[in-house]
Amino acid sequence: MKLVQHPAEMTELATLWRDEGRTIALVPTMGSFHAGHLALMRQARQLSDQVVVSLFVNPIQFGPGEDLATYPCDLQKDMHLAASVGVDVLYAPLAADMYPPGFQTTIRVAELGKGLCGASRPGHFDGVCTVVMKLFQQASPHLAIFGEKDFQQLAVIRRMARDLDLPVAIIAHPTVREKSGLAMSSRNSYLQEEEIEQALCLYRAICFAREMVKASTVPLVAAEVCSKIIKNIQSTPGCDVEYVEIVDADSLKSCETVNKNSRLIMAVRVNRKVRLIDNAGLVEL
Ligand code: PAF
Repeated sequence: MKLVQHPAEMTELATLWRDEGRTIALVPTMGSFHAGHLALMRQARQLSDQVVVSLFVNPIQFGPGEDLATYPCDLQKDMHLAASVGVDVLYAPLAADMYPPGFQTTIRVAELGKGLCGASRPGHFDGVCTVVMKLFQQASPHLAIFGEKDFQQLAVIRRMARDLDLPVAIIAHPTVREKSGLAMSSRNSYLQEEEIEQALCLYRAICFAREMVKASTVPLVAAEVCSKIIKNIQSTPGCDVEYVEIVDADSLKSCETVNKNSRLIMAVRVNRKVRLIDNAGLVEL
């Protein structure tokens, strides 16, 4: 596996592969790889001739007071893990090369990026879209794989790709979970042992909502399901709900009743410091 750090070198390599008729898959990441990232990389390996994994802790998607400075990072370990699943290139550019002095362009997906995480993290999805667009330009992928755990991010990037006619297929990978049900996330490394137990309130909420839907013979009122979930989560010591909503999986607009395209989507803070997100479909297809 090759480590590439300079954008021009990445573009040169991608151009060469394209000239040879080879297909390229990109897995954009911020590093600190766990089994969820590795699953995305394995899927990329199956779907394309060349696999590029980008590793870039993107400063412009972090707001003031967020965890940019403490975001976990271990390049040697990540290189080893990426190589173990057959990645061809780990692309780890420097912030100074991604955003040189004078940089001033932003990509904004106006509506989809506004609510949910966008409401508490203003500008977050602008930062995500801008960096993903740059990575697409540099690595020239035919397809790019994103985890469903960041469901709003996935919807926003799909919209950007459609709106800007990007010749990149956006592929979703289902959320990878610990045996306990906790969605894998680099931020789980911030959790102490007892906080992991508290963080399970998210997965319990998903199971609870699915059970409710299964047991009901009529379409459930989404607001009622959400208020029960909020009550359950708030009763878990140390857990504060940022939002719990049931939305349409495509528009991300609130659903009146739970249907096949509904998605339960949540953000919770554990002990005020660790912000976790999770989501799931509620109706068995
Ligand atoms: O999901 C992430 O890790 C990041 O938001 C992404 C897509 C790599 C952009 O920085």
